[in-house]
Amino acid sequence: MLIFGFRAGCFRFRVRRFGFQGWRGLATSLSLVGMAFASSAFGAELGKPVTFAKDIAPIFQEKCQECHRTGSMAPMSLLTYEETRPWAKAIKAKVVSRAMPPWHLDKTVGIQKFANDSSLSDEQIATIVRWVDSGAPMGDPKDLPAAKQFPDFKDWQLAKTLGQPDLVIESEPYTMPAHGQDVWWKPYATVPITEPRWVRAVEIRPIGKNAQRVVHHSIARLQQDEPDLRTSLLTAADANNSGPGMLMEWAIGKSYDQYEPGTGKLLLPGSRIWWELHLHAVGEEITAQTQLAIYFYPKGQEPKNRTYLLSFTAGSYVGGEHEQTLDIPPNGITETQGYHVLRHPAKLSNFQPHMHLRGKAMAMEAILPDGSIQLLSYVDRFNFNWMTNYIYAEDAVPVLPAGTVIHITAWHDNTANNPNNPDPTQWVGWGERTVDEMAHAWVNVTFLSDDEYQTYVAKKGASVAQASK
Ligand code: HEC
Repeated sequence: MLIFGFRAGCFRFRVRRFGFQGWRGLATSLSLVGMAFASSAFGAELGKPVTFAKDIAPIFQEKCQECHRTGSMAPMSLLTYEETRPWAKAIKAKVVSRAMPPWHLDKTVGIQKFANDSSLSDEQIATIVRWVDSGAPMGDPKDLPAAKQFPDFKDWQLAKTLGQPDLVIESEPYTMPAHGQDVWWKPYATVPITEPRWVRAVEIRPIGKNAQRVVHHSIARLQQDEPDLRTSLLTAADANNSGPGMLMEWAIGKSYDQYEPGTGKLLLPGSRIWWELHLHAVGEEITAQTQLAIYFYPKGQEPKNRTYLLSFTAGSYVGGEHEQTLDIPPNGITETQGYHVLRHPAKLSNFQPHMHLRGKAMAMEAILPDGSIQLLSYVDRFNFNWMTNYIYAEDAVPVLPAGTVIHITAWHDNTANNPNNPDPTQWVGWGERTVDEMAHAWVNVTFLSDDEYQTYVAKKGASVAQASK
């Protein structure tokens, strides 16, 4: 656990000036990274050949094969040498640009300890580059690691520790044609409960033959009638929230969420799940749906703290909850900012930027009551196809005092340089369609009482003097 406002020491902050000139800086730092790889190739390791069998296969087992295997979502399998060799050049390009694995966070600033980090280390990237540059050799087949066993898409992962779920809720199926544009399938499903229930864990899985090939991600949003949280949890005039928000998102590599002991999500009678399945065509007609497993806290063992999934917006809201001010001119790059004041001390569990096709980058900073600014996370290469959720490791979760301002900055690139841009000549504003834009971060927030916050502070042995009132 990391408590801000005190000498944290766990990681180094580098507050960076964001802005347009930042992108030129980015280009420079990328070429420096390139040089670093090149020089390590001539370092102490020189002379020791890098082979698929010995060096590459273990990396791919750990970081690629979950998606890159027959029946999974990626276009090609990277299990064997024969399957991998033709892709060597493309692999080098994708790992050097850090497009693959899909972890699009700037690794040089902000919190760097995550529960779900799927990225390659600098050393692993350097090894892959050396392998490709030396002709991508197989090496001695005797060096190959044993084939990795992957979990069956048909089992609940949580069943091993929690048994069978208390409730399973299904989305309606969708038949994805062999060819065509991506589809966002958004059916509703009711939650059959008659009294409020606290959720301790959720899991999502795709079902249907080969469904995991077409399901890119699946989100279960929770909708239920509740008093407006805006005035009780946040103070900024433009503070937005989406009520109880999202229950869970499924994407390959992330199948469940188990809330910390003493925290959970609250389901109310009459609630419903609003599904969002992002489906893509894979050359074969496939019918897919997803299932949500819910594990409740036993009655009488309700947790003390409720976790809310809030959307912290970049930019302010005018004319109601759904009309955020976004003004993105043709052929332009824009920067939009939003400020959200936490009325109570709070723990932030994750950072999940949400933008559409013009989305380029998003940063989340904490402006502490003493005026200091701490960069929490910065996704510098946002890609609309990858709604990656960056979940902080338990001991890296930021714990912020009351009065902290969450500052969100979003950048949109409406120029022809953005490969996802369908039309740089269009003006773009806020809207639901993917050709419209959005700019917010989904963050799971657990609010703490002042006493609980002081307990965290005391545990850290930090000075209480800086705690804000
Ligand atoms: C979370 C799933 C996932 C992981 C993990 C992943 N990939 Fe991918 N990869 C994909 C998908 C889906 C695509 C196609 C869409 C895209 O490019 O975004 C892809 C595309 C690629 C491509 C481009 C293929 C083409 O058609 O040009 C390469 C190369 C690649 N991946 C290599 C890797 C390597 C190497 C790793 C591990 C170091 C890796 N990927 C990890 C899902 C994944």
